[in-house]
Amino acid sequence: MDGNGRWARKRGLPRAIGHQRGVEAVRRLVRALEPMRLECLTLYAFSSENWKRSEDEVDDLMNLMRRFIKSDLPEFIANDVKLKIIGDWEALAPDIVDMLRDALAQTANGTKRLAVALNYGSQSEIARAAAKAAKEGSITPETIAAHLDTRDLPPLDLLIRTSGEIRLSNFLLWQAAYAEMLFVDTLWPDFQPAHLTQALDNFASRERRYGGR
Ligand code: IPE
Ligand code: MG
Repeated sequence: MDGNGRWARKRGLPRAIGHQRGVEAVRRLVRALEPMRLECLTLYAFSSENWKRSEDEVDDLMNLMRRFIKSDLPEFIANDVKLKIIGDWEALAPDIVDMLRDALAQTANGTKRLAVALNYGSQSEIARAAAKAAKEGSITPETIAAHLDTRDLPPLDLLIRTSGEIRLSNFLLWQAAYAEMLFVDTLWPDFQPAHLTQALDNFASRERRYGGR
């Protein structure tokens, strides 16, 4: 979900407003998920490298997270969303960790999977998984995958990055081995459910061969 800052700058607004509008884009998308029948939507919300931003911006993002959980959890529960968090989220502020634990418990019986990457970095996820696999005595692609944060999620089919950047920025590197990728110029706050529908149409037209022919 990239481009909040540029969205705000284009309008002469503070970055915090861009992030607020980014949250609204998330809300719109989650509300529109039902007819898309996605097995799982994973959103990259905060990376383990985002701590390098100014203290003010990190504070804004954390406060936004607090407000979003509070305001939207009831709707998640009502709409049968099953929340999953990937990344080192238990290292976030204790009150956020408590809120997230509560959100996970309250959405545990949902059927629509929404995964959120928080304090997430793919390389450290892979290293953690490999260390666990090694401890159990076998390092193979299967044993590593079985210890990734995404171990209970379906395979990654389509990865979309917004805002015109063409890089993965430490997101789902292992999982992306055979994912289709789509890089769009839309800035995240402008992202509409129709953009996702278009992306799914694009995905449906691709021939996936997984190295075969
Ligand atoms: C993405 O928007 C939001 C987060 C990383 C939380 P950016 O803040 O990266 O927006 P740009 O890249 O400055 O436009
Ligand atoms: Mg960015």
